[in-house]
Amino acid sequence: FEGMALVELAKRTGEGIASLQNILVNVGEKVDSEFDPISIDVAELVAMEVGANVRRLHSEEGAKLERRPPVVTVMGHVDHGKTSLLDALRQTSVAAKEAGGITQHVGAFVVAMPSGASITFLDTPGHAAFSAMRARGAAVTDIVVLVVAADDGVMPQTLEAMAHAKAANVPIVVAINKCDKPSADPEKVRIQLCSEGLSLEEMGGDVQVVEVSATNKIGLDKLEEALLLQAELMDLKARVDGPAHAYVVEARLDRGRGPLATAIVRSGTLVCGQHIVVGAEWGRIRAIRDMMGKVTELAGPAMPVEIEGIRGLPMAGDDITVVDSEERARMLSVGRKKRLEEERLKNLNEGRMETSGTDE
Ligand code: GTP
Ligand code: MG
Repeated sequence: FEGMALVELAKRTGEGIASLQNILVNVGEKVDSEFDPISIDVAELVAMEVGANVRRLHSEEGAKLERRPPVVTVMGHVDHGKTSLLDALRQTSVAAKEAGGITQHVGAFVVAMPSGASITFLDTPGHAAFSAMRARGAAVTDIVVLVVAADDGVMPQTLEAMAHAKAANVPIVVAINKCDKPSADPEKVRIQLCSEGLSLEEMGGDVQVVEVSATNKIGLDKLEEALLLQAELMDLKARVDGPAHAYVVEARLDRGRGPLATAIVRSGTLVCGQHIVVGAEWGRIRAIRDMMGKVTELAGPAMPVEIEGIRGLPMAGDDITVVDSEERARMLSVGRKKRLEEERLKNLNEGRMETSGTDE
């Protein structure tokens, strides 16, 4: 048995016993004494609820770790060519060539390299209104590709993406795009990036810079090489066996199939039929599809998949947790919704006092 007492959990999460007890009630656990053992599953759920680092709690020590592909998020200022670059990369992909039809709207896909390695890419919008999404994107990713248009240079969302990457402690690889344009000035972009504090490789730093053109498909192989090199330095591994931890990248409502979430598994394996809590929503996985739309039973680390069976519409950035039963999934969801509502009301009140309404 690998449980721990409530006092221990309080110590590890830095949270008060009373508030932990509250959460335990929400997930349907009854704890009479603070010395009663709690199963590791429940402890993990509680830790997640209070935003504690779960890894510290649930040591992956002893678990078999396997190499996994890097998850790369493309960020940058609006219209600097993020989506175009991804489209171009998609076409160079062996897998894409072989499979033909690809779900176009989904901003997540895997590029298989001729060497057998692969890279999982995520797209983000550059529009100013999507700052929260970029922040969440940075948090679920291993590497950020910072796209900067060579004719436009460093702009507000370029700086913002840099800040998000820094805050999430995620390394950046710079792609200077639109180098085909006559007005392109990649040198100027380099100087701008340096003066913003990015230590470029050519200046003795560790940030790689690649010049590309999404339109003319130039430099794409160099970009892939740079990403694989960066990934290799990071020695990315994940636990494959056991319950999955995953994140929602994007969610939408399909008329026939209901809420659909594009998700990336960070560790463990997601299995069709499992009960899950997704942010404040819950459900049971009815179908898992890969990014080609093919139905699959399982999803392992770094694999982007589409999940069907969630009862409500989750949000990008929501985490996905596998739980034992429908009952527990429902209770966790109710608990989270209650907390969200409390936070909303609190923010509303604070906003009123400061007479400044904020909207994300
Ligand atoms: P948002 O998602 O709105 O932030 O934009 P984005 O960064 O995804 O840019 P997108 O790929 O939509 O490209 C914006 C415009 O730039 C489009 O008109 C593209 O055709 C053009 N564009 C993208 N890459 C290149 C390039 O390498 N060269 C040239 N000349 N134009 C490009
Ligand atoms: Mg785009």
